[in-house]
Amino acid sequence: MTEFLSILILILFILLFLINIVLNGSSLLSYFIGGAPFLPTPITTLKTMISLADIQSGELVYDLGCGDGRLLIEANLAYKARAVGIEISFIFCWIARINANLHQARITVLQDDLMKIDFSDADVIFCYLMPQQLNLLKKKFSFLKKGCRIISLRFEVPGWKPLSHVNRNDRIQQPPIFKYQI
Ligand SMILES: C[S@@+](CC[C@H](N)C(=O)[O-])C[C@H]1O[C@@H](n2cnc3c(N)ncnc32)[C@H](O)[C@@H]1O
Repeated sequence: MTEFLSILILILFILLFLINIVLNGSSLLSYFIGGAPFLPTPITTLKTMISLADIQSGELVYDLGCGDGRLLIEANLAYKARAVGIEISFIFCWIARINANLHQARITVLQDDLMKIDFSDADVIFCYLMPQQLNLLKKKFSFLKKGCRIISLRFEVPGWKPLSHVNRNDRIQQPPIFKYQI
């Protein structure tokens, strides 16, 4: 029975993946020309990112490129944050939504290109994106409200001086985390 269920879930994921390619072919291509591919953040790193963000109950938290949604789920469950994910990939949007449902977390996942979304109302922004994307985002970051924290995993916002950063000297297993405050 468990084996049957595993095979069913595997087939479902393969189907979703194929649908994603059909619906999102051009977006997938963008991963290879500058967009960040999906790379899940290790759980210890994820918890460090969240504690660095210093989230207060009710604050509005965005994950730009939310992948499987784990950061948002933790922010909602542990810190009562209002959590919004923006994710270009159809398949990861659904994985994040299902994941949130399984954990009984209240998060919103928008399937869109993060460059097109207005997130100027954010209190906290998480991102694990490529330097080219962070560079393009600087213009949108200039509209963020005072006090907003940006937590960027692995890559710095080009030309910006971080308020603090956590560097664990092991860039592959434990990538650095940069914190900025507007
Ligand atoms: C490195 S993963 C990070 C996932 C998650 N934030 C985490 O820390 O586990 C980057 C995610 O950004 C998404 N992404 C890349 N470019 C994007 C874009 N232009 N708009 C929205 N999502 C994007 C990818 O599909 C991928 O899921």
